[in-house]
Amino acid sequence: MSASISPWTASGMRDENKPYEAPVRAFLEAVVSDPLAHARFMNMLSMLEHMGSRKIMLSQMNRTLTEETLSHLSEEARHAYFFKRHAERIGGEKMDGFTDENTMCRVSAMMYFGRLDAGISKEVGDDAAYQWVSLVIELRACWLYEIYQDVLEKSGVALSLSALLAEEDQHLADMFAHCGGRYDVLKRLSSYETGLFVKFWHHLDISRSLLQAAE
Ligand SMILES: [Fe+2]
Ligand SMILES: [Fe+2]
Repeated sequence: MSASISPWTASGMRDENKPYEAPVRAFLEAVVSDPLAHARFMNMLSMLEHMGSRKIMLSQMNRTLTEETLSHLSEEARHAYFFKRHAERIGGEKMDGFTDENTMCRVSAMMYFGRLDAGISKEVGDDAAYQWVSLVIELRACWLYEIYQDVLEKSGVALSLSALLAEEDQHLADMFAHCGGRYDVLKRLSSYETGLFVKFWHHLDISRSLLQAAE
């Protein structure tokens, strides 16, 4: 496997997602300017991070657990904690669990994750699913959190994702190293994820507009 190619080049993810950068940025700008919406958005991210951590744990039940995998799942669990802690701080109230009231687009977020996992498992098999699902999710996490971090910096909201981003970058590098140069598979799975993300984001956007109209 060539060591010089980056996961971004190999997957074509950033190029394919160019058209979505501006609308996602606009959505995030609106969300961070509204503390209640921002809290519900962060609780949704907390749920997705928690689902990721739980999925890693379940996928490793009958395997030899490595230091790298244990580190990965514990960091995803900490990301879930990070987002819930800041959701409660910015929202100014306890946000126990993940309910329709305290979690933005809870059902769509769960469907995004569930479909991604099922679709990729079907394609690569259950044994290889952990690596491939993680790899495409890390691409999305890095892509989204980079834009989110930039929006936060410009908005003046006291929240930094830089430590979290550094961990997601490392997960991406680790997962990419396991894909064995199968860039054709990576491109196809990343495109599949982009399709699911666009649908999910569309629901998020509608939900935020509806909330605003109700205020
Ligand atoms: Fe994470
Ligand atoms: Fe990660």
